[in-house]
Parts: sequence; C-alpha cells; structure tokens
Amino acid sequence: MLFNNKVVLITGAAGGIGIAVAKAFAKEGAKLALVDLKRETLEKAAESLEAEDTLLLTANVGNENEVKEYVQKTKDHYGRIDVFINNAGINGEFKNITEQTEENFKNVFGVNVMGVFYGLKYVLKIMKEQKSGSVVNTASNGGLLGAPGMSAYVASKHAVIGLNKTAALEMAEYGVRVNAVAPSGVNTEMMRRIEKNAMGERAEEARKTFEASVPMNRYATAEEIADLMVFLSSGKASFISGAYYRIDGGQAATSV
Ligand SMILES: NC(=O)c1ccc[n+]([C@@H]2O[C@H](COP(=O)([O-])OP(=O)(O)OC[C@H]3O[C@@H](n4cnc5c(N)ncnc54)[C@H](O)[C@@H]3O)[C@@H](O)[C@H]2O)c1
Repeated sequence: MLFNNKVVLITGAAGGIGIAVAKAFAKEGAKLALVDLKRETLEKAAESLEAEDTLLLTANVGNENEVKEYVQKTKDHYGRIDVFINNAGINGEFKNITEQTEENFKNVFGVNVMGVFYGLKYVLKIMKEQKSGSVVNTASNGGLLGAPGMSAYVASKHAVIGLNKTAALEMAEYGVRVNAVAPSGVNTEMMRRIEKNAMGERAEEARKTFEASVPMNRYATAEEIADLMVFLSSGKASFISGAYYRIDGGQAATSV
C-alpha cells in the first residue's frame, strides 16, 4: 500500500471530493485527519470510511485560529503530517462583475484564498521541520480560465495557483512538494449549486450545457479527482512540485 501508516490531513472532507479522497487514501493504508465546518455532516460522511485511524475535526478554514488548532490537534494525535489535501472551497453567488457584491467577493476569498493560505502556513511549518511531506491544493479550471458570473470564484482559484507555485519554491530545499489539481466540473453538490445559480429551475439544462463543453461530454467523478490527488501525494510523483494538473476530459486541448 502506498500510504501505509502515513498521516493524511484533508479539509472540506465532508464534501464530494473530500470524502472520495479520504476513501482513496484509506484504501492505501493511511491514517486520516478530516476537517469540515459541521460536526454532524463530517460524522455522517465518515461513516462510510474504513481507515486505520480517523480523527474528525470541526473548523472553519477561513479562521486563522481554527486552522492553527486543527493542524496542532492533528500533530498532537499522530505526531506528524505526511500529506495535506488543502481542499475546502465554496462557489459563492452567481453574478456578473457589474452586479457583484463586496460581501460575496470577501466570503469566497475568505474561504478559497485565506483558507488555503492559513492551511499552508501552519502545515508547512511542520513539514519543514520533518523535512518531508506533500501538499495538494484544490484549484479549478476556474484558476486558469474565466467563467461569466463567477468572478469571485475564478479570481480566488487563480490565487490558489499563485500560492501553490510560491509554496513549492519556498519548500523545495526541505524535501516538501506542493502541487495543485485543476478540475473542470466534478459531479458533486457544488455543481448542483452552480447549475441552479446559473439557470434556476432549468438546472438540468445548465448541466447538459456544462457537460457538452467537455470533449468527453461529462463531468468528472470525485473518485477520478481523488486518484490524481493520491498520485501527486505519492512517491511516484517524487520530482513533481509547483505544478498544477488539469483534469478536464480534454477541455484544455480545445484552446491554446
Ligand atoms: N465540484 C466541482 O465541479 C469542482 C471543480 C473544480 C474545483 N472544485 C473544488 O474542489 C473543492 C471541493 O469541492 P466539492 O466539489 O467536493 O464541493 P462540496 O461542496 O461537495 O464540498 C466542499 C466541502 O467544503 C466544506 N467547506 C466549505 N467551506 C468551509 C470552511 N469555511 N471551512 C471548512 N470546510 C468548509 C463544505 O462543508 C463541504 O463539505 C473545492 O475547493 C472546489 O472549489 C470543485
């Protein structure tokens, strides 16, 4: 098993991608620390897990003290952190820039940018001391392309790619790798919300339009994203750092 007795910390762990990646690491023998906003949702999601050991942690990733605490609790419980899946994120409201609100922009940045930054800040301190570790930040194809109505989300995911590159450079000499994944639409509750935000009651039509923009004509499954995260975290990716991996059913091949 690729992660026998390794400690894997995952944020947004009660969500579609979070729980899929928790399952994938559990299969590889990992011990898990799972972070999400609400205890109840987290406990429910974790019911389906068969891991060596699982620590459940409730925290808002947009609050620096709470991030410091979830990182410290993981270190106290397991003594180390081998892999960090910096994954929690929100899509925010669907509004063109001329109608965009400061509140929505701040909310989205508070989670998607500050949450990723705080996570890196506290986890990388531990990995630097260990002189080992691997991080995967969840960006998005919205971190590389524009999307009408989603300025806050798109800007926040571009910021994640910037943080990813910088963290990789700062950590290279300590044997710590930092990479990002950039998925197109993934079949989770987030896409259900985006479909509704985009077209209201015609959400099913929105889904068809979004899927048709992908050469493979479908969303990714959460398990497909999890497989990429496991690969990037593993020794099989030992010379990969500062990279972002597009996982998009061929969408990248449709433009320069
Ligand atoms: N679903 C997609 O199409 C898609 C595509 C590209 C990137 N992503 C990214 O993947 C990541 C996971 O998304 P998902 O599809 O699993 O969505 P999801 O909504 O199913 O899961 C997100 C999880 O993050 C948690 N979360 C939100 N805000 C939080 C906070 N402040 N503190 C702690 N936890 C918080 C939620 O409770 C939820 O469990 C996000 O960063 C998202 O932007 C998703």
